[in-house]
Amino acid sequence: MHRFDLTGRTALVTGAARGLGRALALALAEAGADLVLVDLPGAPGLTGTAELVRATGRTAHLHPQDLARTEDLADFADRVREAVGPLHILVNNAGVAALERFNEITAASWARIMRVNLDAVFFLSQRVAEHMVRDGVAGRIITVTSKNGLVAEAGLAHYNASKAAAESLTQSLAVELAPHGITVNAIAPGMVETPIDGEFPFDREAFEAAYRERIPLGRYARPDECAGALLLLASDAGSYITGTRIVVDGGVLADQMPRTRFMPPYRSSLPSADG
Ligand SMILES: NC(=O)c1ccc[n+]([C@@H]2O[C@H](COP(=O)([O-])OP(=O)(O)OC[C@H]3O[C@@H](n4cnc5c(N)ncnc54)[C@H](O)[C@@H]3O)[C@@H](O)[C@H]2O)c1
Repeated sequence: MHRFDLTGRTALVTGAARGLGRALALALAEAGADLVLVDLPGAPGLTGTAELVRATGRTAHLHPQDLARTEDLADFADRVREAVGPLHILVNNAGVAALERFNEITAASWARIMRVNLDAVFFLSQRVAEHMVRDGVAGRIITVTSKNGLVAEAGLAHYNASKAAAESLTQSLAVELAPHGITVNAIAPGMVETPIDGEFPFDREAFEAAYRERIPLGRYARPDECAGALLLLASDAGSYITGTRIVVDGGVLADQMPRTRFMPPYRSSLPSADG
C-alpha cells in the first residue's frame, strides 16, 4: 500500500465544497496529503470539507476563488504557491452543467459552461504546471471530465463539448509535460450521486430511475467510488500512466444497447448471490 501513500504531498482540489470534490479531497487526505480546498467564495460546504480533512489529521487550507474569472487564475495560483509551498497534485474537479436543448443554448450559457469546465482547467493547470517545474516536483494533474466527453448526451451540447475538449487538453498537457516528469490524466465518471443534477429542470427521482436502467451496475456511483481512480493517478502507483483516462461509469459506455422495458434483459442468468 505504500505505493498509494501521499504523505508529504500537497493537493489542490477545485469544487471541494460538496459532491465529488469533497469526496476526492477526503480520499487524498486519508492517503496522507495536505489539502488546498477551492470553491466559489461563500460556498457553504467548504468549511465542512475542511473539517473532514482535518479530522484525518491532515492540513486544510481554504482558498475560495471563482474559477470562471480565468484572467485571475495565474495570480490565484501564485498566491496559493506563496501561501502553502509546492503543490504536488492538482485536481481540476469543479464543473457546471445545464440541461438545455441545442437550439436554445445562449452565448451566455455556452460561455459559463466553457469557462468553468474548460478555460479554468487550462489556465489553472498552465500556472500550476509552471510552479511544479520550477519547484522540481514530478507533479500530477488530474481533471474530472465525464463519460459525456466521450459519447454525447442530448440536452447537454455545451457540457459534452467542454468535457471532450478537457479530454483532449489532458493529452496535450501530458505530452508537453512528460519531459518534466509530470503526469496528466482524466477521470471520466458516469452518473454520480451529487447535487449537480439538482440544476436540471425535471423530476429528479423519475430521471434517476430511468437512468438507472441504462447502467449495467444498476445504480449511480457514490462520490467516494471515484476515489480509487484518483489515488491511482495521484500516487506512485500510477507513475507510468499519463495522457489517458479512467472511466468510472458502472459499465454505461461498455453497453451500446440501452435497455428499455420493450427489450428482454440480456443479462447473465446465473443466480445472484442473494438467491
Ligand atoms: N455528478 C455526476 O453525475 C457527474 C458525472 C460526470 C462528471 N461529473 C463532473 O464531476 C465534477 C464535480 O461534479 P459534482 O457532481 O460534484 O457537482 P457539484 O455541483 O455537486 O459540485 C461542483 C462544485 O464546483 C463548484 N463550482 C462551480 N462553479 C465554480 C466556479 N466558477 N468556481 C469555483 N467553484 C465552482 C460548486 O460550487 C460545487 O461545489 C464536475 O466537473 C462534473 O462535471 C459529475
